Amino acid sequence: MNQAFLVAVNDVLLSRKFSLTFVNMSHLASKKAEFLALLAQTNDIPLMLEIEKAEGCYLHDIEGKKYLDLISGIGVSSLGHGNKIIKQAIKDQVDQYMHVMVYGEFVQSPQVDYAKWLTDRLDQQLNSVYFTNSGTEATEGAMKLAKRCTGRYEIGSCINAYHGSSQGALSMAGGEWLKTGYRPLLPGTFQIAYNDFDAIERITEETAGFVVEPLQAEAGTIVPEPGYLQALRKKCDQTGTVLIFDEIQTGFGRTGSLFAHQGMGVIPDVLLLGKALGGGMPLGAFIASKEKMQVLVMTLFWGILPHLVVILFHALRAWLLVKNLKDFLFLIA
Ligand SMILES: Cc1ncc(COP(=O)(O)O)c(C=O)c1O
Repeated sequence: MNQAFLVAVNDVLLSRKFSLTFVNMSHLASKKAEFLALLAQTNDIPLMLEIEKAEGCYLHDIEGKKYLDLISGIGVSSLGHGNKIIKQAIKDQVDQYMHVMVYGEFVQSPQVDYAKWLTDRLDQQLNSVYFTNSGTEATEGAMKLAKRCTGRYEIGSCINAYHGSSQGALSMAGGEWLKTGYRPLLPGTFQIAYNDFDAIERITEETAGFVVEPLQAEAGTIVPEPGYLQALRKKCDQTGTVLIFDEIQTGFGRTGSLFAHQGMGVIPDVLLLGKALGGGMPLGAFIASKEKMQVLVMTLFWGILPHLVVILFHALRAWLLVKNLKDFLFLIA
């Protein structure tokens, strides 16, 4: 069934000129037509698979076709679809409690346990975890953290980079086509070419933070030249710039080590995680030293708004990961 036909069907349905008998046309046509009509679209040629169920590495559509899923929701469902442990953990957490309070107020043991699991596997300076709803939010949090830690506002990133879709994170994007429709974006940002050692000189004592994927993902899986990440680390140390590694895509074993930077021998000041971090549930995080994170704490005497997330299902997500990651990631952790 081609898309033009579906659009036409949809137009008909929405025109309300046709009887209920017509609305009760085949499920296949009506759901796809409604999908096109009722959901905001992100591109003009959506894949349009209508999913019946997903198990392991297979997707099944409502016409009974089975697809080997080589995309896993763009690196999100890294533990497989319909994972029994994940499903059980979700059920357990729903029975126990769901959203109870804005992030950072109540002690929710699943969040604490997952933070411990992560920090136990990271360099000791990455010992404080701020959970978010998405990778983009993790980028935003890290940008704000860099500003507060340094008292500066300039933030740099690399050409062809992608760090998320909000206007702050987009300001860090390295492709003009990503940004052009949304200008003006944040002032005081700049991009340099990835793997260009000379360009690192653009980072100065005015620069609050520099965000980089240790291995550029969306740009086309571009690996760092030997010494490149070390040179960035050195420059950021010289200038007092917060070095932020975006491992939203490279994290959780995708490059061999649990996190890509661990196989490359360079420790960032802030680590961004997302995608596989949630095992299929939306979850992001930015991780830094406790000392750095303290600047986001709002005190009675210093009333600057911290980074705030009023988060739904937070405990649930962390909980399910604690349970399943222990079982599934022992091979690389
Ligand atoms: C490297 C990188 N950073 C940030 C993001 C944004 O993450 P999210 O889509 O969860 O907001 C992505 C998503 O593709 C990504 O690949």
